[in-house]
Amino acid sequence: TANGLAQQPPMGWNSWNKFACKVDETTIRAAADAIATNGMKGAGYNYVVIDDCWHGARDANGFITADKTRFPSGMKALSDYIHAKGLKFGIYSDAGTKTCGGRPGSQGHEYQDALQYARWGVDYLKYDWCSTGVRNAEEAYALMSDALRASGRDILFSMCEWGNSRPWLWASKIGNMWRTTGDITDKWTGRYGYSWGVASIADMNEPLWPYAGPGHWNDPDMLEVGNGGMTDTEYRSHFSLWAIMAAPLIAGNDIVGMTNATRAILLNTDVIAVDQDRLGIQGHRVWKDGDREIWSKPLSDGGRALLLFNRGDTPAAIAADWTMLGLPRQVRMEVRDLWAHKSLGKRSGRFEASVAPHGVVMVRLKQ
Ligand code: DGJ
Repeated sequence: TANGLAQQPPMGWNSWNKFACKVDETTIRAAADAIATNGMKGAGYNYVVIDDCWHGARDANGFITADKTRFPSGMKALSDYIHAKGLKFGIYSDAGTKTCGGRPGSQGHEYQDALQYARWGVDYLKYDWCSTGVRNAEEAYALMSDALRASGRDILFSMCEWGNSRPWLWASKIGNMWRTTGDITDKWTGRYGYSWGVASIADMNEPLWPYAGPGHWNDPDMLEVGNGGMTDTEYRSHFSLWAIMAAPLIAGNDIVGMTNATRAILLNTDVIAVDQDRLGIQGHRVWKDGDREIWSKPLSDGGRALLLFNRGDTPAAIAADWTMLGLPRQVRMEVRDLWAHKSLGKRSGRFEASVAPHGVVMVRLKQ
């Protein structure tokens, strides 16, 4: 993308998965406080993003304003607060006449909105796709991309049209990430109206791996880790799948009140390093037999991230052969277990492990 941003998959926190339309400045400030002090900032989470429902009406000149009861101090003050913590400020709008939550959309106000965001010090825009009528997605996203560039401020552009118009084919020059699916929900698998469980979302995002790279990423939606609908084993699988797919890591839970187990997942720096690897190659599935799968991601040190994934309801033995990973059989690789946080020594030819139901074993191989 011409803006040069997001050379690694973006990381941060977004209000939607936990708070939905119930956002206000107190909630956002508390999230910023938490990220700055609970280790997340040091682990790389830097964008604090307000999703839908922050908007008030347009003023007499057509400029967008913040909802005065929810954000009485105004967006500039909130932006300053977030920046003072060494974090970046993200906001949300929509390519149609109204956002999905019924607030004013940006259609017909693109340049004016981009200018207003730049004045507020916005660093990230998520741009949704409700109430767009017959609008062409590529045209609509290119228009806002141009407007953001014209604002003079570096603003990461997150495109959210749910994969409807196959954005992976046209969006890499327009924005930094594009949603590939409908909404995620805090469930293991399956479809629920316009939402899908994490194992199903992973299936939809996986085949798109050739389209991702530095500056332009497939976005299988924000994290549900810690929202309560899944087990910690399932949340570790969710986080591992997102990391091996080089997905944006946007936490979506209540980071102020999270448990130690949730914190240990979101702050697993070994897994985050796989996501953030400089090569920026999206890993993908290299083997499948029923519920047993093997995923691999090439890393900049010449090694591989390797994920043994068990979708089934009973424990399973899964064995990865080096040839599945594009490595010669004879080569000896150092194996580090990224969830046990320990080295397993050197292996030649293959690595095998027993994997818990709905679980993963994630290792890093290095010669
Ligand atoms: C649909 C998007 O896919 C969600 O991530 C969220 O932004 C909601 N709209 C907000 O209304």
